[in-house]
Amino acid sequence: MEIVPSILSANFAHLAKDIKKVENSINYLHIDIMDGQFVENLSFGPMIVSAIRPLTDLKFECHLMVLNPEKYLIKLKEAGANVIGVHVESTAHIHRVIDAIHRLGMEAEIVLNPGTPIALIEPLLDEVESILVMTVDPGAGGQKMIKKCLKKVLTLSELRDMNDYNYRIEIDGGVNKDTIQNAQSMGVDRAVAGSYVFKSDNPSERIATLMKECQKDES
Ligand code: DX5
Ligand code: ZN
Repeated sequence: MEIVPSILSANFAHLAKDIKKVENSINYLHIDIMDGQFVENLSFGPMIVSAIRPLTDLKFECHLMVLNPEKYLIKLKEAGANVIGVHVESTAHIHRVIDAIHRLGMEAEIVLNPGTPIALIEPLLDEVESILVMTVDPGAGGQKMIKKCLKKVLTLSELRDMNDYNYRIEIDGGVNKDTIQNAQSMGVDRAVAGSYVFKSDNPSERIATLMKECQKDES
């Protein structure tokens, strides 16, 4: 299991400090980009991504909660994004968006809302590096995990085995020390964690706790 901290719950006045606190325990940082339309909140845009790019060598996974995601791809590439997550519900042309992300040299991740079935993305499963299963309705940190969304993880894991697909399976929302073990047993490869990691005096200790919970499951 790999933990991917979401800076949505970090201290925006001290982002550099908060990134340093987790940097040594992880490879990816999750950046939630919200436009106030696809979801109600507004958060970061390419300008913030570019401002924090020089602070760290971590890979940036940008989770786009925006309408018309295609509008932001070039700017995010220029800002230093490595992975782009696109909600299948946010565009009528998901295949074209995935293609554009790849042509820009980034990894593509399809994101599914809790109410969206896997059937909708089945034709694209062999085209992406990652699938992000939302385990809360997107738009805010600190929500409770909707556990039944984990059934999709199980299905994605079976489909991957049956068809030799290569995507990683990631979840986002409500990940903490009480929920991560169950998620891992369903086949999650990566878990985004926001409030559990950053609403703490010791974020790296929180990451270590999540990892430890997962190891318990393996033993
Ligand atoms: C929610 C975001 C998440 C958020 C998760 O819309 O996509 O990445 O930061 O926060 P927690 O881990 O607090 O549920
Ligand atoms: Zn997210």
